[in-house]
Amino acid sequence: MDKIVIEGGKKLCGSIKISGAKNASLAVLCASILSSGEILLENVPDISDVRVMIEIITGFGAVAEWETPDTLRIVPPKTVNGKAPFHLVKKLRASNLLLGPMLARFGCAEVAMPGGCNIGVRPMDLHFKGLAGLGAGLSLERGYVYCSVPGRLKGARIYLDFPSVGATENIMMAACLSEGQTLIENAAKEPEIVDLANFLNSMGAKVRGAGTDIIKIDGVSSLEGGGRYAIIPDRIEAGTFMVTAAATGGDVTLENVIPIHMEPLSAKLREANVDVIEGEGTLRVRAGGNLRAIDIKTMPYPGFPTDMQSQLMALLSTVPGTSVIVENIFENRFMVADELKRLGAKIKVEGRVAVIEGVPSLHGAQVKATDLRAGAALIVAGLMANGKTEICNAAFIDRGYHKLEERLRSLGASIWRK
Ligand code: UD1
Repeated sequence: MDKIVIEGGKKLCGSIKISGAKNASLAVLCASILSSGEILLENVPDISDVRVMIEIITGFGAVAEWETPDTLRIVPPKTVNGKAPFHLVKKLRASNLLLGPMLARFGCAEVAMPGGCNIGVRPMDLHFKGLAGLGAGLSLERGYVYCSVPGRLKGARIYLDFPSVGATENIMMAACLSEGQTLIENAAKEPEIVDLANFLNSMGAKVRGAGTDIIKIDGVSSLEGGGRYAIIPDRIEAGTFMVTAAATGGDVTLENVIPIHMEPLSAKLREANVDVIEGEGTLRVRAGGNLRAIDIKTMPYPGFPTDMQSQLMALLSTVPGTSVIVENIFENRFMVADELKRLGAKIKVEGRVAVIEGVPSLHGAQVKATDLRAGAALIVAGLMANGKTEICNAAFIDRGYHKLEERLRSLGASIWRK
């Protein structure tokens, strides 16, 4: 059942509840290792990336049980037991986020090098620089990263050459149990960073400034669990539904969203002549008129998110005129262009720039997802195309979207698994 089939041309209308954020959940699951008490996490999406992370932390001796379809009870391990093995880490790059918490709580960590992935090389130099700055010794041996520290990590001033999301999270988690104060300068400002900081503070950490360029962490000697914490809504899942509504000339209301998190996308959709109407925790997306070509540059938050770039490329492929996308975060994020071309799109890629000449319509064809968001883009394209589109490698899509076909069907799409 690794194929998704779409009979395109249906308008999507209705309302849909957005799941908890994948990227926030992955970071929070890693952070749970820092705690000595039980934790109840609400609004956790049941997607394959989350399941792999659960498998990794339970491999370390944690207990994780679903209490409801989106509530997870976690009992963190009392001692370190095992390593994050390659066969799991290769499925989930975010397992590199275990380094900081393991090191801070147990004084050592052993995680397989995640390596590159389909969207780019993805180095870890900034993670290493940060953890070394806190006093960790690091070595790479036979594909594994070994980190250790005699005694406690020590607070330090760490400047990130690029506001990396993962490096900011890793350093922030490690610094919570360090001795003294840590400053992360040029920190990432994504909403998931703020969510992680709120979660850490809910356990007794002292993190201030998350969401700004400078995060200040005063280390404490231990963190207690014991509380409930609800993960923020997924802005990329929400964005994907917004784009499907715009692409099909539909009218969809998203429930359980934080409209301000969607602003980088909402502003661009409005520029393209899509109505985006904010409510109290809701967003309505209505595409009545003719769409206009737009230009996009991906940037760290609050710039336009790289994780929405492919879906926008699919939408723009039938918008009259020329649209230009500049991808500034991941160098291989344009692989989806070749798949969109199979459906009739006209896209030229030159390095980090893609030029899209809008065509009157797309036609169904067989295509393959090359990564998670490329898969989402092909769903957008398939929903717009005339006739039948078959997307293989659907497992990529399951990494980040919960029951996507079922939820799109509830909005009127003709989509199923084969
Ligand atoms: C996270 C998200 C991912 C999103 C990305 C950018 C998770 C689990 N994943 O990935 O969905 O697309 O943020 O918003 O939260 N870099 C370095 N050295 C490092 C680390 C990163 O050069 O040590 C570079 C990367 O190659 C990339 C850029 O920094 O060009 C951004 O990467 P980063 O923000 O770290 O992304 P991730 O945390 O991997």
